[in-house]
Order: sequence, then C-alpha cells, then structure tokens
Amino acid sequence: MSSPAVRPPRSVFLPYCQPWIGEEEIQEVVDSLRSGWLTSGPKVKRFEEEFAAYVDARQAIAVSSCTAALHIALTALDVGPGDEVIVPTLTFCATANVVAHLGARPVLVDVDEHHQISLAAVQQGITPRTKAIIPVHFGGQACDLDELLALAAARGIPVVEDPAHAAGCQYKGRKIGTHSSAVGFSFYATKNMTTGEGGMITTNDQRLAARMRLLSLHGMSRDARKRFTEGGSWYYEVVEPGYKDNMTDIQAALGIHQLRRLEEFIRRRGQIAARYHEAFSATPELWLPRERPGRNHTYHLYPVQLVVERLKIDRAQFIDCLRQANIGASVHFIPLHRHPFYQKAYGCRPEQFPVAEDMYKRLMSLPLYPKMSDSDAEDVVAAVREVIAAHRA
Ligand SMILES: Cc1ncc(COP(=O)(O)O)c(C=O)c1O
Repeated sequence: MSSPAVRPPRSVFLPYCQPWIGEEEIQEVVDSLRSGWLTSGPKVKRFEEEFAAYVDARQAIAVSSCTAALHIALTALDVGPGDEVIVPTLTFCATANVVAHLGARPVLVDVDEHHQISLAAVQQGITPRTKAIIPVHFGGQACDLDELLALAAARGIPVVEDPAHAAGCQYKGRKIGTHSSAVGFSFYATKNMTTGEGGMITTNDQRLAARMRLLSLHGMSRDARKRFTEGGSWYYEVVEPGYKDNMTDIQAALGIHQLRRLEEFIRRRGQIAARYHEAFSATPELWLPRERPGRNHTYHLYPVQLVVERLKIDRAQFIDCLRQANIGASVHFIPLHRHPFYQKAYGCRPEQFPVAEDMYKRLMSLPLYPKMSDSDAEDVVAAVREVIAAHRA
C-alpha cells in the first residue's frame, strides 16, 4: 500500500467500525429460523464447544453479552454488598457497572502508558475488602497478566478478565481464556468477532463453570434443549435465582462462522495497523500504540495519542476535522472517573488518575476493521496527515 502525494477527499463517510458478515453466517441464521430452534439449542452447544476448543478451555458458556458474562462471574464468586472489586478507569462502563449491580464497590484505578491496568495502582487499591480484580485487555493486546495474577494470588484474590476487545489474543503462547478464574468475551457488533449482541464465559474451573451455567438461565437445573427435545424431561428445579442471560441459536449461528474467520480477521487488522505504523511512525504529532513482548496484538482498536502541544486544535476538534473529511474516529474511553455516577457514588476525583487524565485529552481511535479496503486505509492516512499539516502549532 502507498499513498499518492495528493489524495482526493472521500465522497462517502468511512465509519469508525463495521462488522463483516459473510454468506455462511447469513445461511446459518436462515437455517436456524427454518429449524424452529430460535432460543438456546444445538447451535449454542456447538458454538460453546468450538469456542472452548479455540481458546483451549475446559468450559465455555455462551451468554447474551460480555456484561452478562462479567456479572455472572462475579455473582458466582459471591461478590456482594460490602465487597470491593478493582477495575481500571480506562474502560467501558460495563466493567464497573456489573460490580455496582451486585451492591459492591468498583474501586477505579489508573492505567499505565500502554492503556492497561496499572500494577502499582492495583497494589495501592487492594484492601481487606477486595473480592476480585477485573483487568481489561485494552484494544486487543493483553495486559501484564502474569504480574497481575501473581499479585492477586499472593493475596488470595480471584481475577476475572475482561477481554471484550481481545478474542483471539495470546499471552505467553496461550490464548486468552484460561489464565484466570473466569474470562468474559464480547461479541458486540464492533468486536473482533460478532453475534450482534453476545458473549462467552470461559474457565478451567469445573465447579465455577457449573454455577455460572446455572446463573445464566434462571438457576434452572435443565435448559431448553434438555426440556424440549425428544429425550428431554419437563421437570426442572430452580436452585438459585439466576438471570436470563442465555444466548440464542440465532446468535450462535453467526458466532460459529465468525469464529472460523477470526484468525483471518485478526491478520487483516494487523495489515491495516502495519500500514498506519509505517505511515505515522515519523509523525511527531502522534504517539502510536506499541506491540509488547510475549503477546500478540489483535488490533481491535488503533488508539493514537495526539501530541496536543504540537497542534493548534484539541482532540475533539481533530475528530471533527476528520469527520469533515468523511473519516469516522472515536475515543476509547472517557475514563470512568469522569462520569457523574462514579464521581457522586464513589467520590472519584481526576487527580487520582494522572495517567488516564493525560491520556484522555490525547486519545483517538482510528478506523480499523477487516472489511476496510487498502484504499480506505489510505484515505485515513491522507486525512490524518492533512489535518496535522493544517493545524501544526
Ligand atoms: C472493555 C469492555 N468491556 C465490556 C464491554 C461490554 O461488552 P458487551 O456489550 O458485550 O456487554 C465492552 C463493550 O464495548 C468493552 O469495551
């Protein structure tokens, strides 16, 4: 890929992200609709087995979202009122909201220069009430998991990973999915693979898995497949008040084929990221995401940081300029401590999060998804260069 010196502006808006649904997914969904199995049935079972095999986990439980996955995992770990759960401030609100849903307190901590949960901040945030830690594998690259797991294990604190961005990620030669007590993936429409809405919990802990499976469907001892099939029984028992978080066969139909294409998706994401690296590595107005040793990068996001000191415009204006050039960009994330709820409920103050605060004014995610063409990527490169050239301080 190379960009001509002057590139005409795009005539059609390039969204910041888009799913890529193939004909196989469409046919599989149609097959589900024709089969009469709309809710959790044989395709959910197949998707769970194939996802478990992919990440090499003993158990995979398909659910309605990553939010549900994290909520179920924390419930199964008996997190409740009076408990604290450590969460990075640079994440989507779901990671912390599930803690609040259980009546526990999300303890927000700062991040490091790689956008990942800061080990030093975790250490400072631990109290006798800490019941779990939820690291986020930000942007599609694993955090410093070994160090975090060691820190948590030394204090007997379970870790629940949030790899909403990180399906297909590896850490020290193993896929993300089994390093900690429970791992909650997202298949939301923008993610590395999608079921529209959906999620998956993976674990090697059979007892925890059994409880999480119960919690995903009302705490009932038999799911629909075991009740409504020829060999099934109408009888079931409710052993605890679980949730209605099961995945449908229609979603699983998408997931089965998205999973088969995940490695191809990640390869394509890597190609586009490589082009951005090449195009911007000598641009002093941008700091680029870095690939770290011992892990791959699946480039769910391409978060650049603007060196705002070198520009006459701020990040919001930069995004507006890109929009005028028909390029969509986004921000991941507005740190949680900036939202009114966390400020009011937990007294969070910006000065407690110096790294995230500094990062937030610079952060901007460029479009990056497998469906983008080389030409789309060149349009992004050209537009970013032009905005910088027009607004250099
Ligand atoms: C880091 C992170 N965690 C959790 C979630 C929630 O995922 P879901 O929409 O599948 O519940 C998201 C969604 O964007 C996310 O980015």
